[in-house]
Amino acid sequence: MPDFVPVGIVGVGTCLPERVVSNKELETMVETTDEWIVDRTGIRERRIAKNEEATSDLAVEAARRALESAGVEPHEVDLIIVATATPDHVFPATASLVQDRLGCPKAGAFDLSAACTGFMYALVSGAAFISSGTFKTVLVIGAETMSKLLNWKDRSTCILFGDGAGAVVLREVPRGYGLLASYLGSDGSGGPLLQVPAGGSRMPNCHQTLDASLQCLHMNGREVYRFAVRVMGEAALEVVKRAGLERKDIDLFIPHQANIRIIEAAAKRLGLPMDKVLVNVDRYGNTSSASVPIALDEAIRSGRLISGNNVVMVGFGAGLSWGAVTFKWQ
Ligand code: ACO
Repeated sequence: MPDFVPVGIVGVGTCLPERVVSNKELETMVETTDEWIVDRTGIRERRIAKNEEATSDLAVEAARRALESAGVEPHEVDLIIVATATPDHVFPATASLVQDRLGCPKAGAFDLSAACTGFMYALVSGAAFISSGTFKTVLVIGAETMSKLLNWKDRSTCILFGDGAGAVVLREVPRGYGLLASYLGSDGSGGPLLQVPAGGSRMPNCHQTLDASLQCLHMNGREVYRFAVRVMGEAALEVVKRAGLERKDIDLFIPHQANIRIIEAAAKRLGLPMDKVLVNVDRYGNTSSASVPIALDEAIRSGRLISGNNVVMVGFGAGLSWGAVTFKWQ
């Protein structure tokens, strides 16, 4: 067996747009109520980017803060992975734009597409480059401007999402700390349940697709909900088992922030009291691939993570896809 390098998160940063959009404001845009949204989702407000603000703008700021918190200089970064469903362009990769603006001359850069699970896939991918000895410093970013993909006339989807970015710096950590186990999964048969139908090679955008809003996010909410409740608990249990731990060993659970009811169902399945679960969906809504690193940053800032804690992070989303990791905070 090769001697794998232990990898951990050594810096975290986030960036959230300034503009807060409350449920009350949404009441003026679609037929909905604050009460309905809070009851069904737990969301009270979300951040929405300005028209001229793109995903890379949020990604660069989150990355700067992550590098600062890690005490790492841009020229030390070997690789940048941006997980996003809302890239600035089809190409160039958003990661390349971030590489240039951060000033990381020797970094490779690529985008990774796994919708709301993107950050989990990017984290596991980035860690593999370090554990194999290929790179020393990897920047992993989850960044989204979901507001640009939404149909603001569709009350069943536009109330759910928000914009933001979260970034982590990965490096070698002392043995016994850092990533203990990972689990990535996909069931592509569920692809049509959550998709942006037009704008790709299957259905390039044209007047007809735009008239039918097919360039926007479409979702079968009930089916995605069912999938999410099942997979969130299953993935967390699997990754705890792979780490050689038991449920009682989990100190903090950081789930993808899509809906408080999904989070509570997963916590119940894990037998975790809610004080061991990070929740901020009320303030940011579903920020897709940015949700887990934003929640992680909040956990650190609020002092909820101390050295030696076992943390489980789980994401799920379009694909359908899911991903989970267990790590020991150093
Ligand atoms: N305000 C008021 N009423 C609404 C709204 C709204 N904003 N949206 C839908 N309704 C109505 C519906 O039209 C429906 O009315 P009807 O019965 O007359 O047809 C009624 O409310 C109930 O609708 P449901 O869809 O059954 O409501 P549900 O309790 O399932 O909640 C929700 C909907 C919140 C979308 C839920 O299904 C959910 O959270 N699903 C998972 C979504 C998710 O996590 N997506 C992210 C995946 S991550 C990624 O990769 C992007």
